[in-house]
Amino acid sequence: MDNFIYHNPTKLIFGKGQIDMLPEEVAAYGKKVLIVYGGGSIKRNGVYDQVIEKLQEIDTAIYELAGVEPNPRISTVRKGVEICKREGIEFLLAVGGGSTIDCTKAIAVGAKSEADMWDIIMKKAEPEGGLPFGTILTLAATGSEMNRSSVITNWEIKEKHGWGSAYSYPAFSILDPTITYTVPKDQTIYGIVDIMSHVFEHYFHLTPNTPMQDRLCESILQSMIETAPKLIKELENYEYREVVLLNGTYALNGMINVGIRGDWATHNLEHAVSAVHDIPHGGGLAILFPNWMKHVLDEDNAGRFKQLAVRVFDVDPAGKTDKEVALEGIEALRTFWNSIEAPSKLSDYDITEDSLELIAEKAVSVRPEYGVFRKLDKADSLEILQASL
Ligand code: NZQ
Ligand code: ZN
Repeated sequence: MDNFIYHNPTKLIFGKGQIDMLPEEVAAYGKKVLIVYGGGSIKRNGVYDQVIEKLQEIDTAIYELAGVEPNPRISTVRKGVEICKREGIEFLLAVGGGSTIDCTKAIAVGAKSEADMWDIIMKKAEPEGGLPFGTILTLAATGSEMNRSSVITNWEIKEKHGWGSAYSYPAFSILDPTITYTVPKDQTIYGIVDIMSHVFEHYFHLTPNTPMQDRLCESILQSMIETAPKLIKELENYEYREVVLLNGTYALNGMINVGIRGDWATHNLEHAVSAVHDIPHGGGLAILFPNWMKHVLDEDNAGRFKQLAVRVFDVDPAGKTDKEVALEGIEALRTFWNSIEAPSKLSDYDITEDSLELIAEKAVSVRPEYGVFRKLDKADSLEILQASL
């Protein structure tokens, strides 16, 4: 494996009723608090009221930024930065899914920097600092609650890019499985696909000697495969929600992939799709991932696909070539995602041949090649997209 330093400063506060910890946690950081949230789900399910009630227990001045979009926009980040600078905000509290948390990360860093946040995202300027922030996660999917990544869309120019800095780790994240009960079935499915996809991005690497990392990845995939079908039939089951919530955090908090350079090509391509078409991230991944796998599979790398097929999808390798086992594993993944009603074709989102050229261009807009397990260029991107129609 590669040399590494693992340091994750986010305090994870997990379980039923843990929102009770909010006053104590916030009080450690400041008295002027900006709450950031999305399109209103937290008002409908009562989480907003709980947060306000908890913050009123301490001497806090509360400010609000509502309306963070799924696939959060730089325009909303700029609004938040403006509020922070104008009001002298001391602490940010994200209450929502990955979009709200990612937007909050960008506001936190933008508020302490002279440069425009889009320039920081595009690495044309350096972050100068960051306001502290915490999160109350409402949807299991991105892992944003315990990592430094943030993904922001510039809708005017149809670009969506990830960035991160030492200042974009949450100070704490509160994860209560009961708060995720109201996540609708479709968003629950997208979250399941996203979590599994993060594990695939780690799993497909070229680093030798990673038996522990491989087994950690496989165990998350196995527990998702066991739990996800039950969860989508019973959205308010505590045990199922709890398992998926914790898997989501561990799939992308940096721990299972220490010493590995993961692939991340499919995420790059999906971000290009959702930059152009504004589709849910997990929906795009469900369509693209099996097609990426088929595109990159060859005689040399079939062993890794075979390991996944045998250990996670119970494919029987007897009498078959590595490539045959690998292909059966890829089919088993597609069948599993179909069984939980994930989308499988770009046409499920009315995306046609007409926009594939533009999406492929967006996939290489920052660098001409991407991916680690297999480098992809624009022509590869186009082929995967065509296979995904
Ligand atoms: O906006 P509200 O009204 O809150 O509704 C949201 C939204 O419509 C709803 N929702 C969330 N919690 C709910 C709920 N509805 C009912 N009850 C609840 N408890 O769900 C919808 C989707 O929310 P969103 O935050 O957009 O979903 P997700 O967590 O999947 O985040 C997606 C974004 O994260 C990025 C994606 O690209 C996308 O922009 N990613 C961020 C990553 C990271 N920071 O590490 C990594 C990922 O790979 C990903 O790229
Ligand atoms: Zn993802």
